[in-house]
Amino acid sequence: MNNLTLFLPCAAGVEGFLADEVHGLTGLAGDDLLTVRAGVRVHTDWAGALRLNLHSRLAQRVLIELAHGPYRDESDLYALASSVAWEEWFTPRQSFRIELTAQHSPLKSLNFATLRIKDGVADRFRQGSGVRPSIDTHAPDVRLHAHLTPDTATLYIDTSGEPLFKRGWRQDKGDAPLKETLAAAMLAASGWWQPATRTVQDVPLYDPCCGSGTIVIEAAQIKLGLLAGGQRRFGFENLRPFDRTTWNAMKAEEARPQAQGEGGVQSIDVFGSDVAHRMVDFAQRNAERAGVAHAVQLRGGDALQRMPPSAQPGIILMNPPYGERIAAAGVAGQGREAFQSGTLARARAGEDGTQAGADIDAGDDFFRQLSAHWKSHYAGWTAWLLTPDLKLPGRLRLKESRRVPMWNGPIECRLFRFDLTARSQPQPQPSSR
Ligand SMILES: C[S@@+](CC[C@H](N)C(=O)[O-])C[C@H]1O[C@@H](n2cnc3c(N)ncnc32)[C@H](O)[C@@H]1O
Repeated sequence: MNNLTLFLPCAAGVEGFLADEVHGLTGLAGDDLLTVRAGVRVHTDWAGALRLNLHSRLAQRVLIELAHGPYRDESDLYALASSVAWEEWFTPRQSFRIELTAQHSPLKSLNFATLRIKDGVADRFRQGSGVRPSIDTHAPDVRLHAHLTPDTATLYIDTSGEPLFKRGWRQDKGDAPLKETLAAAMLAASGWWQPATRTVQDVPLYDPCCGSGTIVIEAAQIKLGLLAGGQRRFGFENLRPFDRTTWNAMKAEEARPQAQGEGGVQSIDVFGSDVAHRMVDFAQRNAERAGVAHAVQLRGGDALQRMPPSAQPGIILMNPPYGERIAAAGVAGQGREAFQSGTLARARAGEDGTQAGADIDAGDDFFRQLSAHWKSHYAGWTAWLLTPDLKLPGRLRLKESRRVPMWNGPIECRLFRFDLTARSQPQPQPSSR
């Protein structure tokens, strides 16, 4: 347990921030912390794996690599799976499941590949103890992962269980909540949070379309030094090396609030608002469960009308309404059922000026009015918007100063940065006397 290789998957585009976070948490660097596509590989020990689960805001899971080798067919996968000393990790009385991912695997059926890996694991237990563990695809005690490239297979045991974006506080979801891991990635990309030093910028943070509050709750938890995983259980609690006394001691030790948390909150500078009061209620209840209700200010209101929540300019961070499931309400949405912007809507818009085409115009109205409002009232603020709509800068009539690629699940997005300046005054016309 002292010499483990971990793989921490993350959304593509987030690897650099995750490497910073892991370095900040563990001090690891060089060969002990390698950035690869959609994840980082870490050399550490069992306690290190537990700490990463408890703290990481950017990793999707913490996996322990147990086998890696070449394969040509399913029998190679069976052999690889039966070579692992699974009995050191769990017992045949526990149920398990296998999640398989593959990149350009030549195998015809990934289902059959999964089945052979499962047989390799189960047969090893049966040969050792006479008992075959059962499969539970819904709520297994233990999760195993297999990843296939064109010619190699890697087997992992999952120490996280439920994915780490589930922090344990969310009950009220709203319509299209961001994953907490993606909200954390946005906070890192905007520079508000520096995961390497575990510090935050001392400027106000505002989400004017906050929905269920994911961004502001994540921000407030970071600011207060709360543990990302302090309110949830983990897969490692079912594994054999787990010792509850040591774990409780680690949790108690790590839960000590840091810097800004220690003396309580001096003044609130994390703000959220949403035009839907139902959403603001959700966000408020989520903030209470997340232990940050005293550190965020949540209000109802239209983003097109709300004035800056603080005198000091700061950072606006948001994923604006997009696509079919979200309707812009408020001023720009009045008299219209909904708007759609972006590719989904464009794909549905008829050539002939149908309703979908009108909805796109309504979306354009919203963004045109939003940037006019920002130019009038938010000079000095920096706005960061996450969207799959690559035409968003055009809709806002603003030129972005940065664009960071990020994936929201399978959807390719950009996090656009706009430096807001006051609306330029009309130039006086030279007189023509
Ligand atoms: C994509 S969702 C944001 C989800 C949020 N980040 C979360 O994790 O729950 C967009 C939000 O914008 C809100 N919205 C739509 N039009 C708005 C407007 N004019 N002013 C403020 N909020 C608006 C919607 O109510 C919705 O909650």
